[in-house]
Amino acid sequence: MTERIPSAFRRWKAASLSLVLAVALAGCGEGYPQSTVSPATDFADVIHSLYISVFWWSMVILAVVWALMAYILIRFRERPGDAEPKQSHGHLGLEIAWTIGPALIVVAIAIPTIQAVFATQRGDPEADYTVEVVGHRFWWEFRYPDGVVTANELHLPVGRPIALKLHSADVIHSFWVPRLGGKRDVNPIVQRPEGEDVDYTWLFFTIREPGVYSGQCAEFCGPSHALMGLRVVAESPAEFDAWREAWKASSPTAAPTPPDSAPEMPGRAGAAGAEGDPVAPPIRPDSAVAATTASQEEALVAQGRDVFFSQSYCVLCHAIEGTPASGELGPNLTLFGRRGTLAAGMLENTPENLVRWLRDPRAVKPGAEMPGVDRAIPRQGGGEWQGTGLTDEQLRAVATYLQSLR
Ligand code: CUA
Repeated sequence: MTERIPSAFRRWKAASLSLVLAVALAGCGEGYPQSTVSPATDFADVIHSLYISVFWWSMVILAVVWALMAYILIRFRERPGDAEPKQSHGHLGLEIAWTIGPALIVVAIAIPTIQAVFATQRGDPEADYTVEVVGHRFWWEFRYPDGVVTANELHLPVGRPIALKLHSADVIHSFWVPRLGGKRDVNPIVQRPEGEDVDYTWLFFTIREPGVYSGQCAEFCGPSHALMGLRVVAESPAEFDAWREAWKASSPTAAPTPPDSAPEMPGRAGAAGAEGDPVAPPIRPDSAVAATTASQEEALVAQGRDVFFSQSYCVLCHAIEGTPASGELGPNLTLFGRRGTLAAGMLENTPENLVRWLRDPRAVKPGAEMPGVDRAIPRQGGGEWQGTGLTDEQLRAVATYLQSLR
């Protein structure tokens, strides 16, 4: 009697555990933006169909093994009064069979796998649009053939064969957007002997459906490896062209003349907006600054622009098309206000998050190569980037200015 309660309890526990597990696994079915089992390109189809065929052949093998096992367990079970069965050791036929069987299975899996490897490694002779992808610690840069440069959000047209030419500016990264295809190493370019081509890595695919596809660096590259995300914005060819045209036409009148030399002591307050500024572009209506009036916004944008171009060293690292800002160490900020996320997919692009980022990037992303208000960071090649010393008001103004770049 005393033993029955624990065993019933154990059975109940096992049953509820299985139930929880079943529910949890059912949750894996959908709603995961980085799922490998919902392909959206020809490349991803190759991998997915290989996976599905191997899965079903495994199921067939499982069924055969279980059926044999069930037959043996029932047919040769112990019956009352049975004598001890004949004892034997070794059976040449069986030994050969269970060596050759698995070997054949391995070959059967290897053939389509190798075919898939070649199919996905081969260059696409029809790829008519090549985008250069550059991995940085810890963000992504995208360079288009017509000079457009952007960061962390890769705009691509659907229905058009795309080639991605990948390399790194520092350490080895790996480009992985699961729904678009497999991982691809992103290697630093090493000096090659004369006449030998540089070893870029390549990805070739054609995206079927418009949408936003999430991706992730898939090669450990430092403290913020896990925070090195990206988003691919796949849009119709018309929308894609419009985005590139907007990029080229952006901010033509927005920039004041930058100071002659880089400021040594950032943080000098410049509260007054520049005179004769053009009308500020609209700000996202859902932002926290929506409550302020249009003229207050204009003043903030003007003040932020002033801070960006004269009060700190933003322009030494960042570029904004149509302005004197042409730094190439950090992400290109042209059309920044159109991005859905900031800090390489980490934070939603809201004024609050942008201020948080500008105040102390390394508190958000360890190892980020950007100084904060009170945080100096070591500079490559010696020395350090001083803290920007910006006030809260200046931070908010810079955030408003950056989000007005649309
Ligand atoms: Cu870049 Cu991990």
